[in-house]
Amino acid sequence: MKKKQTVFSGVQPTGVLHIGNYLGAIRQFVDLQYTNESVFCVVDHHAITVPQVPEEFHENTLKVAMLYIACGIDPKESIVFIQSHSTEHTELAWILNTMTPLGELERMTQFKEKTEGRTKKEGVLAGILNYPTLMAADILLYQTDIVPVGEDQVQHIEFTRMLAEKFNSRYGRTFSVPEAYVQRDTARIMGLDDASKKMSKSAPSSNNYIGLLDSPNEIRQKIAAAATDSGKEVQYNKIKKPAISNLIEIYSAFAESPHSEIEKIYKDKNYYEFKNDLAELLIKKLAPIQEKYKELTKNKKQVLEILYGGSRKSRIISQTTLSQVKEKMGYVI
Ligand code: AMP
Ligand code: TRP
Repeated sequence: MKKKQTVFSGVQPTGVLHIGNYLGAIRQFVDLQYTNESVFCVVDHHAITVPQVPEEFHENTLKVAMLYIACGIDPKESIVFIQSHSTEHTELAWILNTMTPLGELERMTQFKEKTEGRTKKEGVLAGILNYPTLMAADILLYQTDIVPVGEDQVQHIEFTRMLAEKFNSRYGRTFSVPEAYVQRDTARIMGLDDASKKMSKSAPSSNNYIGLLDSPNEIRQKIAAAATDSGKEVQYNKIKKPAISNLIEIYSAFAESPHSEIEKIYKDKNYYEFKNDLAELLIKKLAPIQEKYKELTKNKKQVLEILYGGSRKSRIISQTTLSQVKEKMGYVI
């Protein structure tokens, strides 16, 4: 079957992947790969925009690659590789940086959040500012149509569209103009300890998230400790019951059952019973991912071969795009 469109996405190797990453992004990667040309990248160059401990950075990069595969990304269906193995990404990022207004970068929410309260003198790094340009390069090199991401990345995709359109209008059509692909219910899974902020790898407490590799006991303990709202009804209402609604969203996504169905099941039950069942559901759904991951850790050589193969395949596409870009701009090639 001819695959329809091109899908590209990436995840940073900056710590434990959690169920927010899975529901907001990786699960969509898996679903989309069968009907679309798909390229999935471990974006290590993005991770170093915040200081990394070398050993951890190395481990985390392989961990994300193995989790991609453990979650169901099939290297026979998709191209899976490490960003830094395909040098076209940083080269196109440089070129795009020369076309990017500084103001556009400064107004990005992620940049503002990461630099909040600090002055330039206090060490706001240029890498954080230029982060979206590298992300645009990642996407545009593959003539991408669809970018599956969580809601926090939508602004970066809009920025990518702006750069693609700018280049196309200056030099003639060169890039596809991509669109964000966001799953309405799971685009922003909130923290378990604080439903007013998104679930995040960099949260101060590990009670904020369920890691994809958390043990059954950790899952039980974290769900038991998760914040709830006043009252005792298991009801979906994002305004009045933000914490319970977040837990219902997680339950609903893993059980593949609508909110209303879950409300029905727990109509005469309390938070405690709901939380117990949610913990057991998560344990059951994460078990096959954890098993596959464990197998892969015993076969790191095979994982590296997949990644090197992925890089070779990715470069066939990215080198073609980069050559077109340079030729149009007048580079001697
Ligand atoms: P990152 O860990 O920042 O590289 O994110 C990887 C992917 O997961 C991106 O597409 C994010 O938008 C998505 N993501 C991260 N946190 C969440 C969350 N709390 N809810 C839904 N999606 C998320
Ligand atoms: N910025 C994304 C994040 O933090 C990661 C990323 C880098 C990405 N390059 C990308 C996502 C290209 C989609 C497409 O989640």
